[in-house]
Amino acid sequence: MHIYYYTRSIVMKNLFFLFFYLVITTNASHNANNEIASPMYNTTKKACLFSYWTVFIYNGIQDPITVHVQSGDDDLGNHTLALNNNENWSFCEGATFGTLFYAHFYWNSKTVLFDVFDADTSEKYCAKWKFRKERRCFWLVREDGFYLGAQLNHFPEGWTKLHDW
Ligand SMILES: *[C@@H]1O[C@H](CO)[C@@H](O)[C@H](O)[C@H]1NC(C)=O
Ligand SMILES: *[C@@H]1O[C@H](CO)[C@@H](O)[C@H](O)[C@H]1NC(C)=O
Ligand SMILES: *[C@@H]1O[C@H](CO)[C@@H](O)[C@H](O)[C@H]1NC(C)=O
Repeated sequence: MHIYYYTRSIVMKNLFFLFFYLVITTNASHNANNEIASPMYNTTKKACLFSYWTVFIYNGIQDPITVHVQSGDDDLGNHTLALNNNENWSFCEGATFGTLFYAHFYWNSKTVLFDVFDADTSEKYCAKWKFRKERRCFWLVREDGFYLGAQLNHFPEGWTKLHDW
């Protein structure tokens, strides 16, 4: 599991967040391999000041699909997913409310690009905030499009279709 610290594209709403931004940049120095000196919350290897997100992308198509997730700071690379396989990644929430991930999806000759994580969509469809708890987003890729949900429910319960192929 990889944890990424986001220090770019920051929307500074007030000094409270500026303070935590400084704490994070002081201790983590933009490098995913560095750990925050005084962890308030531990993921498997890294520490987040507030809660952290894990985003899952599940392939519900018989054919293998290729997924390429990126943000302004990170490129997770191309991953090919067979039916029911998933790709997942984690990152800290807190100082950066501008966190954004986008992904290219390739299925045979079809290619789609959209944001797979942003603040508004995740608030609306993903797991609700709990202090220092992991929050999860699940994408389910189907032949008729892309669904987002807070849990890996049996389709279609709890899934919302947000994009077409
Ligand atoms: C976090 O992990 C470190 C070592 O990796 C450990 O020393 C520390 O006690 C942990 N903190 C919590 C709150 O679990
Ligand atoms: C990722 O895979 C797709 C589909 O196979 C390909 O078109 C694209 O060029 C690949 N991108 C990278 C960065 O390798
Ligand atoms: C998350 O992805 C890793 C590979 O990066 C995989 O080993 C793991 O099984 C995935 N987690 C779940 C819950 O499927």
